[in-house]
Amino acid sequence: MSQDEGKRRSGDKAAEYVTDGSIVGVGTGSTVAFFIAALGRMKDRIEGAVSSSERSSALLKELGIPVLDLNAAGMLALYVDGADECDPQGRLIKGGGAALTREKIIAEASEKFVCIIDASKQVPVLGKFPVPIEVIPMARSLVARAIVRLGGQPVWRDGVVTDNGNWILDVHNWQVTDPVGLERELNQVPGVVSVGLFARRGADVVVVDGVVRGG
Ligand code: A5P
Repeated sequence: MSQDEGKRRSGDKAAEYVTDGSIVGVGTGSTVAFFIAALGRMKDRIEGAVSSSERSSALLKELGIPVLDLNAAGMLALYVDGADECDPQGRLIKGGGAALTREKIIAEASEKFVCIIDASKQVPVLGKFPVPIEVIPMARSLVARAIVRLGGQPVWRDGVVTDNGNWILDVHNWQVTDPVGLERELNQVPGVVSVGLFARRGADVVVVDGVVRGG
């Protein structure tokens, strides 16, 4: 199966978790684009969506799906998003598309996080994909030095500004054997806005190539 076909099947499968009359949390990326297309086909059955990026908001609006404010929506029943890597416990690396902060906020505000991936995203241990970290611009070097002390190699994603006006450091060569501990430690460095490790709050359900893992 091609990677694109795996993404499409996962996006379609996630639509089965959407309940009538609900507000759906929507992530970012090429896999989520398939989910948004599926949402478009059932848009009359939902109230709207809370979006994790300007990119996803544009896709949703194009299909006539209302984009709502999380503050008004309250807790969501469902969040659907892709990932750059997923370990056997459903812990993730996210942020390849630089949308990690809003993604993390919506994941936290949702009862169920359904992660949709193709088979290439599955790994035994997180860290082959560089870990994105969103930083306040003035803290870039400070945070980079902290990362080096923690054994990583930070690379500034030059030219990229997040939807929140911040910058991204991609951390290479990290074997993330303790994702929860590393996420906690990094969150304490001043200037870190959010860490692309979704470990403390990982996925509740992982859909791989359209099939629920362990389901
Ligand atoms: C966006 O910032 C990311 O967290 C995406 O969820 C992740 O990069 C997966 O994207 P694709 O579905 O395009 O691989």
